[in-house]
Amino acid sequence: MKRPRHVCLSLLLLVTSLASVSSQVNPGVCRYPLGMSGGQIQDEDISASSQWSESTAARYGRLDFEEGDGAWCPEITVEPDNLKEFLQIDLRSLHFITLVGTQGRHAGGIGNEFAQMYKIKYSRDGSRWISWRNRQGKQVIEANRNAYDIVLKDLEPPVIARFVRFMPVTDHSMNVCMRVELYGCEWLDGLVSYNAPAGQQMNLPEHVVYLNDSVYDGAIIHSMTEGLGQLTDGVCGLDDFIDSHVYNVWPGYDYVGWSNQSFPGGYVEIMFEFDRIRNFTTMMVHCNNMFTHNVKAFQQVVCYFRSEMDWEPTPLTFSPTLDDEDPGARFIPIALANHMASAIKCQFYFADIWLLFSEITFQSDTAMYNTTLTPPKTGLPPIIQPEDDPTHKVDDSTTRILIGCLVAIIFILVAIIVIILWRQVWQKMLEKSETFIYSHNQSSSATSEQESSSTYERIFPLGPDYQEPSRLICKLPELAQNSEEPASSSTAAQDGVPHYAEADIVTLQGVTGGNTYAIPALAMDLLSGKDVAVEEFPRKLLTFKEKLGEGQFGEVHLCEAEGMQEFMNKEFLFDVPEEATVLVAVKMLRSDANKNARNDFLKEIKIMSRLKDPNIVRLLAVCIYSDPLCMITEYMENGDLNQFLSRREPEGQLALLSNSPTVSFDNLCYMAAQVASGMKYLSSLNFVHRDLATRNCLVGKNFTIKIADFGMSRNLYSGDYYRIQGRAVLPIRWMSWESILLGKFTTASDVWAFAVTLWEILNFCKEQPYSQLTDEQVIENTGEFFRDQKRQIYLPQPVLCPDSLYKVMLGCWRRNTKERPSFQEIHRALLEIQS
Ligand SMILES: *[C@@H]1O[C@H](CO)[C@@H](O)[C@H](O)[C@H]1NC(C)=O
Ligand SMILES: *[C@@H]1O[C@H](CO)[C@@H](O)[C@H](O)[C@H]1NC(C)=O
Ligand SMILES: *[C@@H]1O[C@H](CO)[C@@H](O)[C@H](O)[C@H]1NC(C)=O
Repeated sequence: MKRPRHVCLSLLLLVTSLASVSSQVNPGVCRYPLGMSGGQIQDEDISASSQWSESTAARYGRLDFEEGDGAWCPEITVEPDNLKEFLQIDLRSLHFITLVGTQGRHAGGIGNEFAQMYKIKYSRDGSRWISWRNRQGKQVIEANRNAYDIVLKDLEPPVIARFVRFMPVTDHSMNVCMRVELYGCEWLDGLVSYNAPAGQQMNLPEHVVYLNDSVYDGAIIHSMTEGLGQLTDGVCGLDDFIDSHVYNVWPGYDYVGWSNQSFPGGYVEIMFEFDRIRNFTTMMVHCNNMFTHNVKAFQQVVCYFRSEMDWEPTPLTFSPTLDDEDPGARFIPIALANHMASAIKCQFYFADIWLLFSEITFQSDTAMYNTTLTPPKTGLPPIIQPEDDPTHKVDDSTTRILIGCLVAIIFILVAIIVIILWRQVWQKMLEKSETFIYSHNQSSSATSEQESSSTYERIFPLGPDYQEPSRLICKLPELAQNSEEPASSSTAAQDGVPHYAEADIVTLQGVTGGNTYAIPALAMDLLSGKDVAVEEFPRKLLTFKEKLGEGQFGEVHLCEAEGMQEFMNKEFLFDVPEEATVLVAVKMLRSDANKNARNDFLKEIKIMSRLKDPNIVRLLAVCIYSDPLCMITEYMENGDLNQFLSRREPEGQLALLSNSPTVSFDNLCYMAAQVASGMKYLSSLNFVHRDLATRNCLVGKNFTIKIADFGMSRNLYSGDYYRIQGRAVLPIRWMSWESILLGKFTTASDVWAFAVTLWEILNFCKEQPYSQLTDEQVIENTGEFFRDQKRQIYLPQPVLCPDSLYKVMLGCWRRNTKERPSFQEIHRALLEIQS
């Protein structure tokens, strides 16, 4: 009997949903965007706890909008233990909210801030704020993983509110920006709260049935006050109250119930408060009627009305016919005869030991819910769940079931045909247009799934001017082989150098965990040739001397290599050593490294093999015929520039006294000019170094300099790097504001880092840049660079630094990337100062 009933019910549901209006909210259909992206919500109704700048104010927090700087961002970094920041939306009237959508700040490719998690707070009156929790009691909602995808989350239970706050949550300090949308429909019931005695517990031989209102959002002591909960969540209980609905929480979950033993008057009183005085037509009470378990619908209801101050003296009384035959749960309609009221108080009289309600709805002012797919006013279709929740049940009798089942068979056939056709059309639409795709990970009856939250992900069309960085990295191997493929013109940025994230940048995580040069795929094309001009070196000719560094995927060793001259002579017309053995740095990939790390390693070889400049460390040879894979690069006898200079002093009195080796100002300039020259070469190939610093420059004989890239892997310099926003470990003290805040790495940001490197050189690397600032303060200072209100702190002029040179440095730290000098200009300026 049970099975066919269900079929009938869902078919009746199908029938009722073909009608255009309904007297109660259907959470399956009530999923219209409420106007953040569509603009129906006005700017003045969007506010926030703070804003980072005028261009990241609350009004820019609209989903799918790219105005201002692309999202709402709070003024300060969000800390794990300090959840003060919020974005608030005033919907102007009560709404039933079933779904929320969030997105980060993408800003056409330059933004990279998003909320990994958030909480929702809501309010119906603007003063009492309630923290949303899911049916398991969890408040935190998992959100975005990147700055561009929209992540939609069902609010289970839904929320009835006028005001909603999104509060970003993090597990570590990070910059967060958000764009949001709310989905739902207007709450036509107008109910603001119901006050009722707390639900009770039924002890059955096999079960304990908890009939409390587990999602009630008001106060619960002995009674429930000032809240809404399961009686208004749009979910009707099943015929067998012991079976909980899809949520699988505990027996009796869908119902709120009371036993007559606690109510000597023989009734349960519930008071309903509304947002305003309304003209009431009907109240519908969804009751369980499982008389075999002493549960029955009420035998009588007495309702009092209050419109202004006082309760009307004469109540309305209604006695439904008791049903001792059908144990099905049902809605009992109670005509309210156009009473005007802002509060209603009803006494429901027990007909048996137990009274169990799962839903109570009100119709007033002839307002009806729209349940068809045509939206009320937004012009946009609702977002619908693909599953059919039996959220409605209808008061049905046996004859009705029979007729219903006959009609049902016809409808099943029609429905199947419609669904088949619809699916085909839908499939086509998916291929063609911007559409939401749903993946609802819900187990309908299984006990395995504790979390019934579903994730929806939006699929973006990849337009011509939209590049998803991760995709492009994956595409690289084809790109590299297919060198005639034209570079998309839209990726070329204004200053001629493709930008990180908006261009196809290939970021190699070097073996040592450091990032090697970031290379536009376009330049990668030029690099890819059939013959990679590096040769295999016999491993046995390497003698280990010392470990230079180590990272996630490998190690860097300092080795002596025998017979390396042969490898160097061929095309290196300079710098051929006379000794039989030369010092080399050997980057080695751990043999257990994964496939990606191996591929990156091979790509790195390819790139390195093409770099030929006297001021760039060269790849000499490789060992790739057997594991571990090795890359043999030049190393220079004086080690890195940081250590080299920190052991030396400027020429002068002090050096004489301490008897330390010295370096003349001219030699400092000579070294700096070589760094500039090497960078000039890299920038001419559109390569972005991303980690230029003295620790990454090697010093040879006679103050010769070569730029390398293994600083990050060395413990010695771990203090120079900072783990930011859960992204990468970054050398923030050398990074431009836009690299830190926007994740944008360009030649212009290399220019910034160059000036910091120059500053280190002129200070003999005796001090870390911004040594008086903590990492967090450095990041705050970056914000000041962005705001440019003359509050940013610049590195001070080193004692040895002439004004003209300090001016060059300040030029490199201009806010506007286009106003910074090029490496050509810097190189020229350095040569002039030297002479
Ligand atoms: C309802 O009862 C369940 C089961 O005892 C309990 O875990 C839950 O906290 C209760 N909820 C409320 C709101 O009292
Ligand atoms: C309430 O609504 C009914 C039906 O629309 C109408 O006839 C009646 O006049 C209304 N009552 C008041 C007091 O406005
Ligand atoms: C509760 O209801 C049952 C069944 O109608 C009745 O027998 C019993 O006396 C009632 N108990 C109280 C305390 O009213």
